[in-house]
Amino acid sequence: MTTSASAAKAKPEALGRVTFLDGQCELPMLEISTAWSTAEIYLHGAHVTQFKKKDGTPLLFMSQCSRFAEGEPIRGGIPVIFPWFGPREGLRQHGFARVQTWELKEFAPAPDGSVSVRLRLPDCPEASAFPAFTADYIVTVNQSLTLQLVVTNQSKDTEFTFENCLHSYFEVGDVTAISLSGLKGLSYLDTVGGVVEKTETSDAVRIASEVDRIYQNATGTVEILDPRLGRKIRVEKQGSASTVLWNPWITKSRQMPDFGDEEYERMICVESGNVGSNSICLAPGRSSTLTVKLSSETLK
Ligand code: BG6
Repeated sequence: MTTSASAAKAKPEALGRVTFLDGQCELPMLEISTAWSTAEIYLHGAHVTQFKKKDGTPLLFMSQCSRFAEGEPIRGGIPVIFPWFGPREGLRQHGFARVQTWELKEFAPAPDGSVSVRLRLPDCPEASAFPAFTADYIVTVNQSLTLQLVVTNQSKDTEFTFENCLHSYFEVGDVTAISLSGLKGLSYLDTVGGVVEKTETSDAVRIASEVDRIYQNATGTVEILDPRLGRKIRVEKQGSASTVLWNPWITKSRQMPDFGDEEYERMICVESGNVGSNSICLAPGRSSTLTVKLSSETLK
């Protein structure tokens, strides 16, 4: 583990802080504090469970019913979905990265006051079905929250094809009052009750029923306008060609044991990654980086 040498020379009061704690159910957690914000990251799943600006509402939705247990995904925050998205026959949904205990490799309070943490997916039996690879996750906390998932094909002779997705759950005042911009004109797979390909015609997408959509070739920024909480959330990304929009609504909420019956009213998932026809195929020795920057501003 290393800390940056330049950070050590900076004025201590300007530096961010990393504190090691026992989180829920004694799972190891990092609490990050900067002049502008706080964040929490569990090693379990490399899961960011919260980001909050000093004077603000939590950015991320966390279910009150979430499990915090080995082998179980955390419900809310930002699950890291890798190396596959969705169901896969005989295997767990959404890959194994979100239930592994990631290794903390580096944490670096920088002179500008931000803090970066680098975690690495450990070797695990499930990974042996794939060519040799490494997956690093770098979380940077300052006025905003930046997430980078770097996957490298370490094999000498085999391509590595995978899906990835940073499955961010956002806290909203009332899901029926929000609108989402940045999706108009994109084709998407509507997966509620079967899979139908459609084209987004709205510049201000509203949520009034279950939503489970994979927007394809979707590389742009999405904004969530939330009049109830009086804020706008921005989801900016690079190295991502898919945006997934999800809200389980009433029936699915009741079916999920780790999600409250009415919690669908206070959340929306806007997920950034590369899934389905936008999967990534890495040649031997090559890397890919998925970068997502989450920020918010108060509405005037
Ligand atoms: C979304 C999928 O990304 O994740 C949904 O599009 C799925 O189909 C949702 O229901 C939650 O998945 P899980 O495995 O965390 O319950």
